[in-house]
Amino acid sequence: KSGKTIIIAIDGPAGSGKSSVARRVAEELGFAYLDSGAIYRAVSLYLSQKCISSDDVAKIEVELEKLTIQIDYQQRIFVNGADVTGEIRSPKVDEVVSFYSSLPVVRHRLLSIQRKLGDRQNLIAEGRDMGTVVFPNADLKIFLKANARTRAARRWKELAERGVEISYDDVYYQIIQRDELDSKRKLSPLLPAEDAIILDTSDLTLEEVVEAVKNLIKECVLKV
Ligand code: DC
Repeated sequence: KSGKTIIIAIDGPAGSGKSSVARRVAEELGFAYLDSGAIYRAVSLYLSQKCISSDDVAKIEVELEKLTIQIDYQQRIFVNGADVTGEIRSPKVDEVVSFYSSLPVVRHRLLSIQRKLGDRQNLIAEGRDMGTVVFPNADLKIFLKANARTRAARRWKELAERGVEISYDDVYYQIIQRDELDSKRKLSPLLPAEDAIILDTSDLTLEEVVEAVKNLIKECVLKV
């Protein structure tokens, strides 16, 4: 990192609230926002639609060469020019994303795309390994956690509001499974950085978490 821009890393498991919180805080403080999960989701959607198994690393490598990913200012995401913003949030992608994300070729390919976003603008970057791998020199690292039942309830509500029919139990099971896969993988596992501030959001509303994160940024980074 050049030292000119401010980077805030927010990591945490599925349903910890990091996307909603990061988006809101970025908007309110005038920072750019990186939803790194969206990039992993877009790649996973693309590979699964091509019926390429996550075991077939050679084929994935070839496909990744051909792939272009763009994110615009409204957080719409495009793979080879096609808008996949809605599709990447489907339960189908939830099911496969952890498998593709565990592959070193995939993580390596996505590293520079993510880092580039912090070169020119103050950035709130949100994901699993923002503080540990992508932005190890971030100005502030926050790790959001919440119990699995609360996270599943939040995710279920979000899906229901979008008209996706899925039972709470299935969402809970998927969350547990994704936690397991994301935490146990060898490369960039879901883990708080040693210097991260850990915030348990189980009993907090979105507004309360947004306030807490904004206050941390103001106190620790902006010094206002
Ligand atoms: O934040 P999310 O639920 O949209 O992320 C989807 C998946 O992408 C998550 O289960 C693991 C992967 N991911 C990752 O491996 N590294 C990141 N920095 C962000 C997401």
